[in-house]
Amino acid sequence: MTRHEIEETVFTVEEIRQRVGELAGEINRDYEGTDLLLIGILKGAFIFLADLARRLTVPVRFDFIACSSYGSSTRTSGVVRILKDLDSDISGKHVLLVEDIVDTGLTLSYLVKNLEARGPDSLHICTLLNKSSPERKADLPIRYQGFSIPDDFVIGYGLDCAEEYRNLPYIAKIRR
Ligand code: PRP
Repeated sequence: MTRHEIEETVFTVEEIRQRVGELAGEINRDYEGTDLLLIGILKGAFIFLADLARRLTVPVRFDFIACSSYGSSTRTSGVVRILKDLDSDISGKHVLLVEDIVDTGLTLSYLVKNLEARGPDSLHICTLLNKSSPERKADLPIRYQGFSIPDDFVIGYGLDCAEEYRNLPYIAKIRR
């Protein structure tokens, strides 16, 4: 197991807690009177989703989807593969896709197209982090965004480096 050095904290536990609460407030207002289906994109979104969901007061159900883009060299090709599909039919539902980070945007642009074809009543994106990536390929309509960040490699709060660090309660930059 390679350990990397944590260079600096980017968002503290308290900053994340505060921002997640604000996002939940916006979602509660926007979806008042409707049922909401939260779709977590595995694995990175699991911690953000769990914290966000506990601040929501509208009725929510959950589903999960897992996908991967082929290795880093072919990432820009836009080939995304679904590893685990949803369990439920989303037609006629109000769907909120919950993501930990948008980088090139390929994962979400593929998922939005794929899920729109299944006929939801509405489909929106909520991401904790939106990275200013020079490799951003798609212009995504992100409705809810926690923080925008520079093009750094960050870990913690669900985000990994070779599957490590997801359980850090804060978000940090590492030296690779
Ligand atoms: C990360 C992240 C997003 C995606 C964003 O997932 O959770 O799903 O990359 O990158 P993109 O905008 O360039 O497509 P990853 O494939 O690393 O899997 P993980 O969620 O299991 O960590």
